[in-house]
Amino acid sequence: VNPAIESILGRRSIRRFQDREVPDECVRTLLDAAMAAPSACCKDPWHFVVVRDRGILAKLAEGLPNGQMLASAGVGLAVCANIDAAHDRLISYALQDCSAAIENVLLAAHALGLGAVWLGVHPRKGRMAHLADLLDLPANILPIAAIAIGWPAEHKEPRTRYDETKVHHEKW
Ligand SMILES: Cc1cc2nc3c(=O)[nH]c(=O)nc-3n(C[C@H](O)[C@H](O)[C@H](O)COP(=O)(O)O)c2cc1C
Repeated sequence: VNPAIESILGRRSIRRFQDREVPDECVRTLLDAAMAAPSACCKDPWHFVVVRDRGILAKLAEGLPNGQMLASAGVGLAVCANIDAAHDRLISYALQDCSAAIENVLLAAHALGLGAVWLGVHPRKGRMAHLADLLDLPANILPIAAIAIGWPAEHKEPRTRYDETKVHHEKW
């Protein structure tokens, strides 16, 4: 199989992490990948808050009911959107742009041997308020998602969820 495709299929949500530091060079590579993603009209409305402080990671986790693993992650990324910078200032474009960046981070993390998991924030108002408050986000900066990243303490097999019934040819 093509190694790039193998890597895409090998990316899995990793929710258990080793107690081991993630080097700054790795974080830079993840951010390079994030900001290599496509964005509508190349507006790049994304911002990334890199969180390494264990106390802040624990507090972030407190406001994310399905994000407890963030407390034990080597690094957390809060992916945010500057709504004023988005194409036509439309939230839908900002969300699509940020989602593309998030997926690139997940794929890059896997390529580096790291593990990561996408933690949903937007559109849950409580989670958004929690991140905005904790990270001092300006009013025009919307928290979209968090990503917990670290050296994996669990292994998951590559897979696709390919489903013939989801594929339509020429017309529905
Ligand atoms: C928008 C979005 C929000 C998600 N939120 C969470 C979350 O809060 N907690 C979590 O553990 N996983 C979360 N995930 C990860 C999914 O549960 C995971 O991708 C899915 O179960 C498929 O498994 P895989 O990533 O290993 O292929 C989220 C994924 C997406 C796309």
